[in-house]
Amino acid sequence: MARSKEADVARLYHLQSSHVRSRTPEPPFDADLQPLRFRTYVGSARTRLPGRDFAIDAPLGAALERRRSIREFALRPMPLETLGRLLHASYGVRGARKLDEEWFVDRSTPSAGGLYPLEIYVATQAVEELPDGLYHYDARAHELELRREGPAHPAITDLTLDQDMVVNTNVVVIITAVPFRTMRKYGQRGYRYLWIDAGHLGQNLYLVATAMGLGPVAIGGFYDDELKAFLALPAEEDAMYVVCIGQPGTTEGPAGPQRG
Ligand SMILES: Cc1cc2nc3c(=O)[nH]c(=O)nc-3n(C[C@H](O)[C@H](O)[C@H](O)COP(=O)(O)O)c2cc1C
Repeated sequence: MARSKEADVARLYHLQSSHVRSRTPEPPFDADLQPLRFRTYVGSARTRLPGRDFAIDAPLGAALERRRSIREFALRPMPLETLGRLLHASYGVRGARKLDEEWFVDRSTPSAGGLYPLEIYVATQAVEELPDGLYHYDARAHELELRREGPAHPAITDLTLDQDMVVNTNVVVIITAVPFRTMRKYGQRGYRYLWIDAGHLGQNLYLVATAMGLGPVAIGGFYDDELKAFLALPAEEDAMYVVCIGQPGTTEGPAGPQRG
């Protein structure tokens, strides 16, 4: 099969966004253009989340040892507190720090320039005290903002190339990015940083879920534009990565299936 043009575009991007001694780094965009650091959907119905803490008992070593992608889930009720803790420990706002006269958000993931370009949306089912639906996580308030009422898992299964392991998970976390938050400072190179940031958050979700006795699985394959439309994302925001989290069903063999 002929090599696709996309592969060449990726190489070109890599070269164009490389730091080279003979080339001055791209200057930041106009200082007047300040993207909002947090997404909020004014007027949406809000649900307060419990579990704004790091009360997770498992030692890090045990979580690292046990971490793996799970693809068999049993759909059982999940306490709202579990969802709240999962989101807060992975990407919640712990506070703020002042560096060189500027305030930065303090979170459990590193982020290029402390700019935190990522947002989190969750499709939930069988989470206690929470109607099934699609929500945006307002990390500052530790609240969910309702985006779409009713079950979202069947549609997400379809949008993730029919990966039916989604069906029995309690939570589908969709990580999105507002690229300009990072690219405003770092230009084209900033686009690399978005994905690195997303990887950090993905690993946090994996480790926190594992430590809480839950099963995670990442999904990198989805119809980008259709998922963006389903989430009703603003034009300047894109879907990056999906991590499903549920309660492990049947035990898989030590190697587990390799997909994706
Ligand atoms: C960027 C990325 C995308 C992935 N996409 C998928 C996917 O679409 N479907 C899937 O079943 N697993 C997916 N995975 C999970 C990998 O298949 C899995 O991490 C790998 O096989 C190693 O297995 P382990 O996580 O159990 O150690 C993805 C992992 C990463 C990091």
